[in-house]
Amino acid sequence: MIYLNGEFMPIEEARIPVLDRGFIFGDGVYEVIPVYSRRPFRLADHLNRLQDSLDGIRITNPHTNDEWASLLNQIIADNEGDDQYIYLHITRGVAKRDHAFPKGVLPTVFIMSNPLTTPPKELLATGVDAITAVDNRWLRCDIKAISLLPNVLLRQMAIDVGAVETILIREGFMTEGAASNIFVVRSNSLIAPPKNHLMLPGITYDIVLELAAANGIPYEVRKVSEYEIRNSQELLLTSSTKEIMPIKRLDGKAVGDGAPGSMFKRLYQLYQTYKNTVMRGDTNNN
Ligand code: PDD
Repeated sequence: MIYLNGEFMPIEEARIPVLDRGFIFGDGVYEVIPVYSRRPFRLADHLNRLQDSLDGIRITNPHTNDEWASLLNQIIADNEGDDQYIYLHITRGVAKRDHAFPKGVLPTVFIMSNPLTTPPKELLATGVDAITAVDNRWLRCDIKAISLLPNVLLRQMAIDVGAVETILIREGFMTEGAASNIFVVRSNSLIAPPKNHLMLPGITYDIVLELAAANGIPYEVRKVSEYEIRNSQELLLTSSTKEIMPIKRLDGKAVGDGAPGSMFKRLYQLYQTYKNTVMRGDTNNN
């Protein structure tokens, strides 16, 4: 079951006019929200980021946060599985093709949910491969825009060589992955690039830094050079659907000793514990 513009229906019945500006221009924003035990995880953070994305492209938020929460709860209840991931998508609506914003048009709102399959234990035990590429995206990567052509092409570069992610480098510094944030470990310290307009402010990124701070793990938030990602003890990838994953090889060369390191193991464990605590309702689910 999905939600489209005020109605719940089976996905097969959902129809979008071809003149939707999402289809014509990629003119819209989205969110991906993990759901554990049928409860959206860090919903307030995702809704705040959605608001920032909408502000960034000048679409008025069609719903209050309470309305979003009840729409999402309905979708979660109507779909199978305790763990799901919600895809929420808003476009500028349907209008005759013209780059300029249309007047008096309502945004299109679409919500779907799929089963959440976090990375299997075997993959976490070995780690995954990543490659690097020049970050050729626009300068507003902080907006979670549905126009993802560069990200699609960059991710496919990794897939084509049997890797899972492409780490992006802009003017000598690492920004993020094609669909993830990247952390580096050097001198036993976790290093994260600072949030700015060149990367998506990841919710999982925030959680990892919160966990580091709360558990006495040394960390720094600062620019990360290309040299540092190529000469790191560990490289970690984070996203709402992949949680935390260790990268074992970068451009075919072993990262550290080529196996998941102690920082990954510690953070992964802390993340799972935190997730379970939040889902039991023992701590605030932002
Ligand atoms: N992508 N950077 C980019 C470019 C992303 O697309 C994502 C997530 C992230 C991680 O953000 P978060 O931790 O809030 O999921 C960083 C989602 C999962 C997607 O597009 O499917």
